[in-house]
Amino acid sequence: MTKVTKIVAISGSLRKASYNTAAIKAAMTFAPENCEIELLEISKIPLYDQELADSGTPEAVLTLAKKIHAADAIIFATPEYNYSISGVLKNTIDWLSRQQPQPFEGKPAAIITASMSFLGGARAHYHLRQIMIYLDVHFINKPEVMIASAHEKFDNNGQLTDNMTGEFLQQLVSALVTWSDKINS
Ligand code: FNR
Repeated sequence: MTKVTKIVAISGSLRKASYNTAAIKAAMTFAPENCEIELLEISKIPLYDQELADSGTPEAVLTLAKKIHAADAIIFATPEYNYSISGVLKNTIDWLSRQQPQPFEGKPAAIITASMSFLGGARAHYHLRQIMIYLDVHFINKPEVMIASAHEKFDNNGQLTDNMTGEFLQQLVSALVTWSDKINS
């Protein structure tokens, strides 16, 4: 039986018209036959408060942790906000990092950043790598998918219109499946 690689994807933007969420949806269309990509929901995650955490982990966090545990690999797509990742993504990571067992531990992962600037969210890209070091996430190194001038690469319906970005996303999914097979074997 062919092994199916289960990838979960987290978008660091809650915007309906988010370019980062659109990039994940485009990546989903490039998933090979033996790979499933599920976009996870993070909009119901409350702001981290240790007292709230001490009184019981919110359902939205538990659900997310379960899905990440069950996944073979993770795709993060995040906007760059003030030279870092978005607050909602950091908040989500902070909640998940306090779960036991820690759901990110040892997981293969890949990063996409999309921004309207010429740098494509490069600073957030590298900042996410730094944030995930202690959580023991193993990122692929290449391709580095930083979607610059994102407003020119997607149409008003969030459909990818740029072939080169499509090629990079396809390479990213393929590299992540290969990396996941190596790490999880
Ligand atoms: C931004 N944006 C931005 N862009 C960038 O390239 N570098 C940055 O430091 C910032 N900082 C920043 C801060 C805040 C608070 C906002 C709201 C926006 C622009 C941002 O990348 C752009 O709006 C993206 O389109 C947001 O991603 P989504 O929502 O389209 O996925």
